[in-house]
Amino acid sequence: MIIILIGYMGTGKSTLGKELATALSYDFLDLDNYISKREKNSISEIFKTKGEIYFRKKETQYLNDVINTSGNLVLAIGGGTPCYGNNMELLKGNSNLISFYLKLSIPLLVKRLFLEREKRPLISHLNSEEALLEFIGKHLFERNPYYSQAQFTLNTDNKTKQEILEDILVHLI
Ligand code: S3P
Repeated sequence: MIIILIGYMGTGKSTLGKELATALSYDFLDLDNYISKREKNSISEIFKTKGEIYFRKKETQYLNDVINTSGNLVLAIGGGTPCYGNNMELLKGNSNLISFYLKLSIPLLVKRLFLEREKRPLISHLNSEEALLEFIGKHLFERNPYYSQAQFTLNTDNKTKQEILEDILVHLI
């Protein structure tokens, strides 16, 4: 069984994923970390030196590798992963897989992402909270059709990690 956590940057996919994996005694994998290791480069450097199109090709290739491995796994994918190539189709075509969209409102995303935007290549150039708010608003409008294809959507605004984990676990019983 593979549990996939989907969501925009800053929705806590990796933090929650690790805790979920521990609770279930599953392995945990963060797709960005996997890409970084395999490419021997940070995500920011890959964007800078090779460009986003290269990154997106590698993202699809490694996603495919990872979801075709056996064993129990919690997989946190990147915020853009569901929205490129045939990635969402790949996920939906795998019957051993269950997907959760961790949904967070735009003001909370701005609050979380503004101070850590440096390490995120898509938003590192945005210098005010207003600019970030506008960017995320448009970006989510484009991405929602992909995110909403997850099997379950969880509203995570003002929820503790424990509450979100419980929301996920309920669907696994
Ligand atoms: C991206 C999200 C990032 C990373 C890359 C692009 C996106 O992952 O894959 O910077 O397109 O939203 P996180 O969502 O884990 O930050």
